[in-house]
Amino acid sequence: MLKSVNCGELDEGHIATQPTLAGWVARRRDHGGIIFLDLRDRSGVVQVVFNPEQSPEAYRVAEQARSEWVLQVAGTVSRRPAGSENPAMPTGNVEVMASTARVLNSALTPPFYIADDVEVDESLRLRYRYLDLRRPVMQRNLILRHRVVKFIRDFLDARDFLEVETPILIKSTPEGARDFLVPSRMQKGSFYALPQSPQQLKQLLMVAGVERYFQIARCFRDEDLRADRQPEFTQLDLEMSFVDQEDILALTEALYTQMVETVTPEKQIIKPFPRLTYDEAMTRFGSDKPDLRFGMEMTDVTDLAKETQFRVFQTTIEKGGIIKGFVVPGQAGYTTQQVRDLEQAARDAGAAGLSHLRLRGTGPLGGLKDEDVVISAGLRMPLEWTRRLAERMGARRGDMVLLMAGPPKQCNQWLSTLRHQLGQKLGLADPNLLALAFVTDFPLFDWNEESKRWDSAHHPFTAPAEGEEALLDQFKPGDDMSRLRSRAYDLVCNGSELASGSIRIHRPELQEKVFTILGYTKEQVKAQFGHLLEAFEYGAPPHGGIAPGIDRLVTILTGASSIRDVIAFPKTQSGADLLFGAPSAVDAHQLRELGIRLVE
Ligand code: AMO
Repeated sequence: MLKSVNCGELDEGHIATQPTLAGWVARRRDHGGIIFLDLRDRSGVVQVVFNPEQSPEAYRVAEQARSEWVLQVAGTVSRRPAGSENPAMPTGNVEVMASTARVLNSALTPPFYIADDVEVDESLRLRYRYLDLRRPVMQRNLILRHRVVKFIRDFLDARDFLEVETPILIKSTPEGARDFLVPSRMQKGSFYALPQSPQQLKQLLMVAGVERYFQIARCFRDEDLRADRQPEFTQLDLEMSFVDQEDILALTEALYTQMVETVTPEKQIIKPFPRLTYDEAMTRFGSDKPDLRFGMEMTDVTDLAKETQFRVFQTTIEKGGIIKGFVVPGQAGYTTQQVRDLEQAARDAGAAGLSHLRLRGTGPLGGLKDEDVVISAGLRMPLEWTRRLAERMGARRGDMVLLMAGPPKQCNQWLSTLRHQLGQKLGLADPNLLALAFVTDFPLFDWNEESKRWDSAHHPFTAPAEGEEALLDQFKPGDDMSRLRSRAYDLVCNGSELASGSIRIHRPELQEKVFTILGYTKEQVKAQFGHLLEAFEYGAPPHGGIAPGIDRLVTILTGASSIRDVIAFPKTQSGADLLFGAPSAVDAHQLRELGIRLVE
């Protein structure tokens, strides 16, 4: 090795030793004759002192060296002079008095300063990702990700799981997104699809008798990107035979609990993980991925709203909509401008508007007077109504109540967005708490208004809830399938979906039935899923699984603001790799070989 010790490891225990270091120049300061270089490697930074009298040759190297040059330095570790210690640096009590130094490589002036606390445009960071990754915060993210994946592998290995690789060039695997396609040269006009997940492959591994499978699997989805989505991302893909839902949830809970306690022991979790059914989550939080770090639970007050003359409420109710809201504790003091900002936030979330009620003063609701009530125009009602509303919603004096009107699905969505925003803004969302929770009993199907057909709420391989198979068997076109529940579950954390899974269908007749309800013709089923249905004819065991997203998990564990910060080489929001310049045009002869002609 060109070094005998890592820069970041030097401390008082090394005083008087003579290490050789190798790393990058993080900072260079010339203090009238003496040069201080901060030398950085993956482990951290240490200060190296170059004295022209003691080591003139090493000093000349330091004179030349600039930011990001690569140096090898040998010297003696000494205690920093009293008063010049740097408590912000782990190595801040010591420094290395250089005796020799060698330039291993020079460097161009980097396009941005390589440190944690500098504001750099993200596209510049992505263009020079290899420099961006030198920043200590990015190194910490890579290290934590490595630890998470290593923990997962060890945990599952100890429980008899086999890691099996599955193909990247495969056939369309529906998970609700668009496929990335790869043209075949040997069979012109035919295409592979990159897997949106190894869903069918892991089910086939269950038919193959693997019983306990996992894979750190890359998945590809051509979908609109958001802060927590990438077109290629990584899942811990997992499947087990001879299990029911409880087995998968127990394994997942043990995995996450032990992982957090090992990898990020400073984070708190709620034990055991709370469990909510989908219906309960929607009723109480308006979302199937609620942030459980704070309350502000929702209440449906459609019946009370009916008593008002407020037109917006009346017309919403006539059209089958709901009036629902939540209490913001202790915020009766919101100013008119703050309320206007909230109304704007509600409109940005898609809502037509937001009604509010502020209950001023203290003491029991019984003592409430007209002058204590600040309420949206149109909602002014006798005090007795206001009291009933406050009681129903659990509001006390000093609180603010927010109400929205709309079709149930959208109203829940708008309210949930507002609730999450307020939780952050009011500091209710403790960044050290990981409120992991299971959401269960998802619907089996969702009505797709655009294409006027039923979609799978999870994916088509999900088993219906126990006792509901008969309802599927009796299905006729036109039936309302929205009441059917499934054996699908999610793991959520702080308002984000971390994992999804389900108990699967393992009987071919039932699987075919589901495809029929989803609107596939017999021919389409045969062409797209014939292999799976056929496999099910050969003794498919009952099975189920789950797939935790690794990128999202590491984002939450590191507190990174974007999923891109925990992926070494991520894509931009528009799906581009700015370092390689991908996607890019290809040679005409490559297209010819593939039998592809581009059209404008
Ligand atoms: P699902 O599609 O819900 O389920 O995905 C499982 C988990 O993968 C993560 N995830 C993503 N992460 C980053 N970028 C994306 N574009 C992205 N899409 C999904 C999320 C999500 O919870 N085959 C099923 C799982 C199963 O049934 O076993 C599946 O893929 O954390």
